[in-house]
Formats: sequence, C-alpha cells, structure tokens
Amino acid sequence: MAQVTALSILKLAGKISIITGGASGIGEATARLFATNGAFIVLADIQDELGQKVAESIGSQHCTYIHCDISNENDVISVINFTVKTYGRLNIMFSNAGIISTSNQTVLDLDLAQFDKLFAINARGTVACVKHAARAMVEHNIRGVIICTTSVGASKGASTRTDYAMSKHPVLGLVRSASKQLGVYGIRVNCVSPSFVVTPLLNRYEETKKRKKRVEDVAQAVVFLASDASSFITGHDLVVDGGLTKLPDADDFV
Ligand SMILES: NC(=O)c1ccc[n+]([C@@H]2O[C@H](COP(=O)([O-])OP(=O)(O)OC[C@H]3O[C@@H](n4cnc5c(N)ncnc54)[C@H](O)[C@@H]3O)[C@@H](O)[C@H]2O)c1
Repeated sequence: MAQVTALSILKLAGKISIITGGASGIGEATARLFATNGAFIVLADIQDELGQKVAESIGSQHCTYIHCDISNENDVISVINFTVKTYGRLNIMFSNAGIISTSNQTVLDLDLAQFDKLFAINARGTVACVKHAARAMVEHNIRGVIICTTSVGASKGASTRTDYAMSKHPVLGLVRSASKQLGVYGIRVNCVSPSFVVTPLLNRYEETKKRKKRVEDVAQAVVFLASDASSFITGHDLVVDGGLTKLPDADDFV
C-alpha cells in the first residue's frame, strides 16, 4: 500500500522522454528531476563523455545516453527511432539544446557566419526535434508533450548578443504554430524562457531573494509542463526568471 502511495505522487510515471542538451546545465537538471518523477530518459547531446557520465549517475534503469547533433536532421531522426524502438513510444520531447553567441555584439557588428551557426542549432535544430518528435507521436497515436527552451530575449529583444536573441525568436513562432497544428492529435507544445545574461545586478538580485539554484527552477517548470498538471496548457511561453524582466531596467538583462 505504501508503495502504491509513493508511485502515485510521481508526476511522470512511465513516461518515455528525450532531452536534448541533456549532458549539462538545464537539460541535466531536468533529466534528474524527470527520473525522480518516474520518467525514462534518452539524453541526446554532443558531449559524449559527459553525457554518458550523467546517464550513469542517473542510473541505467532510467536513463540512456545517445550522441545527437541537433543541427544534423539524420541524428535527430536516429535518436527518435532509437527511443521508439527501445521503449515502444515517445511521450515527451524536451528540445533544450542550444548555444550562446561568442561575442557581445550589437547589430552594428553582427558576424553573419556566427549568426548562421547559432541559427543552425538554436532555430533549425529545434525545428528538427519538434518536427520528428511530433511525427513519431502522431504515428504511434501518442497524446504527447513537446517543450522547447527559448529565452526571455526571444520576446523582449536584447541590448547585446543580437544573434542569440534573434535565434530564439523562431522557437516562439514554432511553439505557437505547432501548438495550433498538433492540438487535433492531443499533442501539447509549450516553451520555457529562462532569463538570459547573468549580470552582477542579477547576482545581487538573486542574493536578496536567496535563490541560487536556477537550473532546478527551470527543471521544475519543465516537469510541470510535461505532466498532466498542465493538461489544459498549450502554446504557452512560461517565463522562469524570478521576476527579473519585471524590473524597470529589464532590457539590460535579456
Ligand atoms: N543558462 C541560462 O541562463 C539560459 C538562459 C536562457 C536560455 N537558455 C537556454 O537553455 C538551454 C540550455 O542551456 P544551458 O544554460 O543549460 O547551457 P549548457 O551549455 O549547460 O547546456 C547546453 C547543452 O546543449 C548541448 N549542445 C550544444 N549544441 C548541441 C547540438 N548541436 N546538438 C546537441 N546538443 C548540443 C551542449 O553540449 C550542452 O550539453 C539552451 O537552449 C540555452 O540557450 C539558457
């Protein structure tokens, strides 16, 4: 009886998930929280050694690592095929992998080669993950959940790192459009928007709020969007920034 009670509080019991960018940061924290909530996780990343270690530390009964560069559509198809073949279905896609710009540029000194690289991963790579996850869910008649990681910069623009903020805008468009198109299949599509640049003021702000575990804060939001607790929520951008963007000089932080 005690065991039944314990199982019933798991928010993602038996759910089969893929987490891209799962070897580090937000993806890793989310994988750990998914596992403690009863999900099975396929971690997809390009940092193979680190990804393997994370998967081992979570435990092979809950987590597997697989190499996947999301900018390569065939890699994305392979990780989805692997998941469906191994577990029989895909319930949750957390399309989270992303990179940041290498320079703090404004539009005046935008480097278009770097811009293309950011778009290949943050925009095009995310589109590939959403497209192929949705196809697998539709094909297997799964009323699944898709969650993407974007950024507060995607809805507010940014004072610097123009290329990064721009590369996250398409993710919002994708989530809004896909949620309209996939609702008919019972598939929900949402995104989380963490705050973007950690400035000294942000550190002070966080100290006053005594909030330091930001990856876990984002992971909690993802678990909520992945679980039945959010079953009536789709097409939503869930901002996870501790109120930062509500500050009067918020533009300095995104
Ligand atoms: N950390 C923040 O403050 C913050 C704020 C806003 C948005 N984000 C977004 O959150 C997401 C996760 O970032 P994070 O902060 O955890 O950073 P991170 O660098 O710790 O994790 C990102 C992971 O993505 C992986 N990755 C990079 N390119 C990849 C590719 N082509 N294919 C597969 N995996 C790839 C990396 O190897 C890494 O493990 C990103 O999309 C990022 O843009 C982060």
